[in-house]
Amino acid sequence: MYNIHRQFATPKNAVEGFFLDLRAGFPIDFRCYPSEEIMKILVTGGAGFIGSNVVDGYVRAGHDVIVVDDLSSGKRENVNPAARLHVCDIRSDEIQGIMAAEKPDILNHHAAQVSVPFSVAEPVKDADINIKGVLNVLQCAVRNRVKKVIFISSGGAVYGEAQDYPTPESCPPLPLSPYAISKYVSERYVAWYRHAHGLEYTILRYANVYGPRQVPHAEAGVVSIFMENLLKQRPSILNHFPDDEDGMVRDYCYVGDIVEANIKAVENGNGIVSNIGTGCETKTMKLYRTIYEAVCELMPDTPSSLAVPQRQHARAGDIRRSCLVVEKARKELGWVPTTSLSEGIRRTLKWWAEKSLLG
Ligand SMILES: NC(=O)c1ccc[n+]([C@@H]2O[C@H](COP(=O)([O-])OP(=O)(O)OC[C@H]3O[C@@H](n4cnc5c(N)ncnc54)[C@H](O)[C@@H]3O)[C@@H](O)[C@H]2O)c1
Repeated sequence: MYNIHRQFATPKNAVEGFFLDLRAGFPIDFRCYPSEEIMKILVTGGAGFIGSNVVDGYVRAGHDVIVVDDLSSGKRENVNPAARLHVCDIRSDEIQGIMAAEKPDILNHHAAQVSVPFSVAEPVKDADINIKGVLNVLQCAVRNRVKKVIFISSGGAVYGEAQDYPTPESCPPLPLSPYAISKYVSERYVAWYRHAHGLEYTILRYANVYGPRQVPHAEAGVVSIFMENLLKQRPSILNHFPDDEDGMVRDYCYVGDIVEANIKAVENGNGIVSNIGTGCETKTMKLYRTIYEAVCELMPDTPSSLAVPQRQHARAGDIRRSCLVVEKARKELGWVPTTSLSEGIRRTLKWWAEKSLLG
């Protein structure tokens, strides 16, 4: 069953359009901006949740896209058929050969070890992928005259328990986990490569991202974890600090908006670090209730016993609250988030429901 829908009120310079995603059997939400200049863009981690959505956005914008992914958590079927996939570890020597053959204009670096608890348990392995891997691709980018790197960092992690809240980019990073440290160290390397080698950059510090293709697993992606549990009528667990049973505060940003930020960053925002989020605070309990209500609309027989999640204490490396100021992205990238939490949840749920129907 394929159904096609149009989405978003489109700004004047956007091309309105439809996109039928045959990989998943249903359309993925999109806005489509024709790019002023067609680029060859290499996206690392382009088989993963966010990276694959970004690849789709670049393809729709008319860019020529290459994906490098070792498929450790990413999936081959996520990769847009118009992109060329190289199954390869970002730490390997093969990266040099791929860049020499493909000669990309832009490197968009999404590949990473993304679990905070894993980084706490295995800081050496985390640094190996998230620092050594970044250095390897940056070094190859310089050798192969890449013009710009778009480096993906984490606003939810690098600020730690931020001194300024909601948090602007001027707030000094205070990373509280090896994952956050590796992201911040990588940011500094990216800046150094521009200083030393003239490799242009934009650093995007994402808030908490959710949307289609996010995989529910024990350590990340609370939206997809709650959604899958509710659709399968299973209880969920809410992690919280002892003094606040409603859970932690996060800034949840829909992946469609994240894609737009990556498209904007191709042409804008040189030499800047920019938060990418919504500036809206949501406690985990509010998130759970929003998802529960959306699931009840879809499946009225959802048991009322699932209206309240079970609770357990916060995990090592968790921070209490995170919410980003996104004014700089508006000014420097020309980007604003346009998807409300309830709308983003509705779209994500639609994706989940259709995915379940397709088995
Ligand atoms: N999901 C979020 O809320 C969030 C928030 C802030 C930042 N980020 C960052 O966004 C990026 C994408 O995260 P995601 O949530 O899509 O996770 P993901 O696990 O879906 O994507 C990561 C991708 O990188 C690939 N990868 C991992 N190690 C690799 C290696 N050594 N060599 C090649 N490929 C490798 C994986 O196979 C996967 O496809 C990451 O850099 C992450 O730190 C994510």
